[in-house]
Amino acid sequence: MQEQAIAWRQAGEDIGFVPTMGALHAGHERLVTRARRENQRVIVSIFVNPAQFGPTEDFARYPRPFEADRARLETLGVDAIFHPPVDQIYPAAFKTRVDPGPLAEVLEGKSRPGHFAGVLTVVLKLFNLAQPKRAYFGQKDFQQVVLVRQLVRDFALPVRIVAVPTVREPDGLAISSRNVYLDSPLRAAAASIHGSLDAAARGFTMGTTDPAELEATVRHLLEGTPGVAIDYVALVEDTTLRRPDRAIAGNVLAVAVKLGSIRLIDNVVLGAERL
Ligand code: PAJ
Repeated sequence: MQEQAIAWRQAGEDIGFVPTMGALHAGHERLVTRARRENQRVIVSIFVNPAQFGPTEDFARYPRPFEADRARLETLGVDAIFHPPVDQIYPAAFKTRVDPGPLAEVLEGKSRPGHFAGVLTVVLKLFNLAQPKRAYFGQKDFQQVVLVRQLVRDFALPVRIVAVPTVREPDGLAISSRNVYLDSPLRAAAASIHGSLDAAARGFTMGTTDPAELEATVRHLLEGTPGVAIDYVALVEDTTLRRPDRAIAGNVLAVAVKLGSIRLIDNVVLGAERL
């Protein structure tokens, strides 16, 4: 992969890179389409990264429909699919890990210790293999975007991080490979995740700037939905991940919930045109 990528770059071609764990859906496709539009070459990686799963998480049963993924990507006109085996990324001699620091200890990082160290470690390696000019990440995993941007800054990586808006089902549910595990009552309940964020975002637009009040709007709506257990509801600044004294446009309202054993996350950017 790396030799091919270097050859493209030496020929003056920009590489757009979309890292994924496969089980591709319309959300991933949006990233690929955007990358296709903005670069001469597009590389998509499919790698279920063991380093970012906790011991009780779903690494073993994470879906791996490689042939279907390949067919989708061919339709989208990607130049290369990078689908390495685990020991190519993590051979026995592999020792170094990226320490993401304090921003990885809140929100997702608090619920999933070690997750972002695993993400940043693989992203750094994948960037070196794919040599991208631009790399595309979904806003759905907003803390991931924040931490990848920090990685790029801290290590002076020559890559631009493009954050792509969340692709949603018609009822607002953020598309995720985990949605297929929801039975029909839980699937119906899942619509309240975006519904509650949307209600709070409208509250902000109508003048509510108290972070506790905006969070409470989300909490109450989620608590009123049977089957939904809240992990966190947090209003944060988009780069420091700290709670502001007063909400301003650009702050992010983020939630994580469990529906049965399925954990889902979502967020909205306050004051954004598209919610
Ligand atoms: P994965 O969960 O496969 O997601 C790959 C990319 O697709 C991520 O940037 C994610 O934010 C984006 N994405 C997922 N659902 C989306 C949606 N509904 N709308 C828009 N974008 C969406 O995130 C990972 O893999 C891994 O952590 C990875 C970055 C590949 C490192 O292992």
